[in-house]
Amino acid sequence: MFGICNSIPISLISIAILIRWLTGQFPYSGNNKPPLYGDYEAQRHWMEITTNLPVENWYKNTTDNDLQYWGLDYPPLTAYHMFALGYVSKKFINASWTELHTSRGTEGYEHKLFMRASVLVADLLIFMPAVVYYFYKTKPMHYASQPINVHKQNLAIYTALVLLYPAQILIDHGHFQYNCVFLGLVLIAIIMMIEGNQKLAATFFTQALCYKQMSLYYSLPFFWLIASRNLRMKPFWKGILNILLVGVIVLFNIGLVFSPYLGDPGTMLQVLHRIFPFQRGVFEDKVANFWYFLSVFYKFRTVYPQEYLLKASTILTLLSTVPASIHLLLRPEIRTFRYSLVNISMMFFLLSFQVHEKTILVPALPILLLYREHPMAVNWFAIISTFSLQPLLAKDGQLVPYFVLMIVYTLFSLEIFRSNIALNFTKLHSWHNFSVIIYLTSILGCFILNIISLTVTAPSRYPDLHQALNALYSFGHFVVLVLYFYYRQFFRPTQQKPISADRVLLIKKTK
Ligand SMILES: *[C@@H]1O[C@H](CO)[C@@H](O)[C@H](O)[C@H]1NC(C)=O
Ligand SMILES: *[C@@H]1O[C@H](CO)[C@@H](O)[C@H](O)[C@H]1NC(C)=O
Repeated sequence: MFGICNSIPISLISIAILIRWLTGQFPYSGNNKPPLYGDYEAQRHWMEITTNLPVENWYKNTTDNDLQYWGLDYPPLTAYHMFALGYVSKKFINASWTELHTSRGTEGYEHKLFMRASVLVADLLIFMPAVVYYFYKTKPMHYASQPINVHKQNLAIYTALVLLYPAQILIDHGHFQYNCVFLGLVLIAIIMMIEGNQKLAATFFTQALCYKQMSLYYSLPFFWLIASRNLRMKPFWKGILNILLVGVIVLFNIGLVFSPYLGDPGTMLQVLHRIFPFQRGVFEDKVANFWYFLSVFYKFRTVYPQEYLLKASTILTLLSTVPASIHLLLRPEIRTFRYSLVNISMMFFLLSFQVHEKTILVPALPILLLYREHPMAVNWFAIISTFSLQPLLAKDGQLVPYFVLMIVYTLFSLEIFRSNIALNFTKLHSWHNFSVIIYLTSILGCFILNIISLTVTAPSRYPDLHQALNALYSFGHFVVLVLYFYYRQFFRPTQQKPISADRVLLIKKTK
């Protein structure tokens, strides 16, 4: 029996790999689109820069490093990762892929194979095992008093629902990015917090931060929980010592990653300037957040200068996180921590400066981790967030995997809801339930909008009408969902009904 339990995660991972690889058969961002190409070329260009130039010059505009052409704008851990990949391809595969200047726009079957495989390896080493560990080894929140093995049959379902989350597959393995690396590191940090190991949590979280600066969206919950827990410790000095120790660990990790730049303040400033490009706009393209929503009705960007908008968005973002932060300070529990991660990162997505549509993957991680506790709300978010990426994916030539994954994921979820396998779905077996009707209507709306965008040409007065409708539809849903999770953070659901005896019997039989 033990063997069978262990083989389920392995088969899940195999299916997850297969789906990722199939997605990778389709074009990537900027595929065959000179002269600028897209994210795929950006990553390849960083392999070229890092393997040819001295580390001090990676972030500097020089004759060999024109920052206007995909200049590095992620922290150094990303650059080291690209260096390692560039090194491997240069030494063992094909040196012309990373040749300075002449390798620009390298494409072709073998190169695509190498690039796609590199994302898959990162996913397989970091993100996927972390997801399996999270569902199989950590306790769900509402059932903390019950033995965890009662739910073993559901663990595979939740793991599958996270590993098959279409948006992340489509962005990493379709569009082309390495989000699985920093999301995996953050997930490991969350698991460490759940297991009470603040020092390892701080290490993994800081490394995630040094990979992609978007990890900052999660930093407040980590900070408040660590601070609040230690400040309550007795004796008092021991807690203070712990906080200092965590601070030293964070600084040590940052120092380690940024060490080539620490010697010269000018270089360090240039690196930070590249990582936090405040000169860029308050949002890019049509993103489903508050600033885009506002711009549809009021052209504020032509009225207010950039610095003013930067200040306004920062103040608004921080204000929006105050309730969740105070709650976490007063109740430093893992439960509060997990909801704060959702609510604070979602507020960053909705309100902060310089947000892209792809950034929805950041709040998506802590939301997906609530699958056991809020299956329908999380599933709803998973589908809407994937829908919000449709215009981007259409541009990439990723519509086939987009539709296949959306349909498969929706049908898979509906089947689970219908058959009521998950124990905490007790309310959902009634199809007359009001929330089920809203949920189904909303998903139907996604498919209708998708079909309209593909069949009806936008009026010439509003050429971006379809993208705008998509962003507004998604924004409305994100607001409703974050309000729901905010509500859930403060109000616990009433005690779940005890599992009936015949259900327990059923579970025992299937095991
Ligand atoms: C960087 O250098 C290139 C020439 O090498 C120049 O065309 C470009 O304007 C410079 N960019 C910045 C941001 O200074
Ligand atoms: C190396 O890659 C380049 C560009 O993709 C290609 O033209 C060349 O044939 C490759 N060389 C070998 C030995 O495979």
